[in-house]
Amino acid sequence: MVTSVQEPTGTADNVLTLHELAMGEIDIEGRLVEASNATLFGSIHVDDHSLGNVIYKPVSGERPLWDFPHGTLAQREVAAYELSEALGWDLVPPTLLREGPYGLGMVQSWIQIDEEVEIVEVAQGDHPDIIRMALFDALINNTDRKFGHLLPIGGRIYGCDHGVTFHQEDKLRTVLWQFRGDPIPQGLLADLDRLETVLPILEELIHPEEIAALLARRESLLTSGTYPLPSQDWPAVPWPPF
Ligand SMILES: Nc1ncnc2c1ncn2[C@@H]1O[C@H](COP(=O)(O)OP(=O)(O)O)[C@@H](O)[C@H]1O
Ligand SMILES: [Mg+2]
Repeated sequence: MVTSVQEPTGTADNVLTLHELAMGEIDIEGRLVEASNATLFGSIHVDDHSLGNVIYKPVSGERPLWDFPHGTLAQREVAAYELSEALGWDLVPPTLLREGPYGLGMVQSWIQIDEEVEIVEVAQGDHPDIIRMALFDALINNTDRKFGHLLPIGGRIYGCDHGVTFHQEDKLRTVLWQFRGDPIPQGLLADLDRLETVLPILEELIHPEEIAALLARRESLLTSGTYPLPSQDWPAVPWPPF
C-alpha cells in the first residue's frame, strides 16, 4: 500500500518543449509498424537545424473505432497532456495540435527510452510515476494502458498513446492494477483540485459530456479515496498487454 508519493524529479533531458514542437517543419522518417493508426516518426527542423524527434499522428490517418467519434483521437492525446500538466504530474511528453505533412495532427516529443529498464517489472512496482500514472489513467478513463505505452527515461516514466481516453462511459483498461482498492496518497488527492485550471482548454478538445464524466470520475475518486477495482463488465486488461 502506498501512502505518500514523491514529486516528479524534473523533466528528462532531450524532451522537446511545446515551443519547439510548434516551430519549424516536420520531416517524416518512418512509420511505426506495430501502430494501428498512422503513427509517424519524424524530426522537426528549423532551416538546417534539427531540433529533435517527434511522433506525428495526423487526424487523416485515424482509423474509425466503434466507440469513439471519428477524427477525435489527436485532440484526446493533447487533452491528456494538458491535464497531466495542470495536475503537476508531468506524465505525458509535450504534445500539441499542429499542421504537418498530412494535415492537422498531434505532435509529441519523442522519448528515447532507456532500453535497459525492465519496464514490465517497473510497471508492476511502486515507482512514483507509476503510482501517479495509475490514478491518471483512472481519471482520463484510459482504455489502452499497455506496458509498451510506458516510456522510461532518466529515472522517470512517461506515458504515450492517449488517443482512446476521456470516453463518457467507464472503460478503464490497463496493466496497472497493483493499487486496486488501495488508498490514494493524500498528496495526489489534493492535486486533483488543480483540474479546474485546465477546463477551458479541455472544452476546446473534448465533448462537454466527456468533461462532465471526467468531473464525475474525479468526484468518485475523491469520495472513495481509493484506486478503482477492475470492472467485471468489460476486459480490464488490454490485449496484448505489450
Ligand atoms: N512520444 C513517444 N516517444 C517514444 N516512443 C513512442 C512515443 N509515442 C509512441 N511511441 C512508441 O511507438 C509505439 C506506437 O505508438 P502509439 O502511440 O502506441 O500508436 P498507436 O496509437 O497507433 O498504437 C508505442 O507503443 C511506443 O513504443
Ligand atoms: Mg499503441
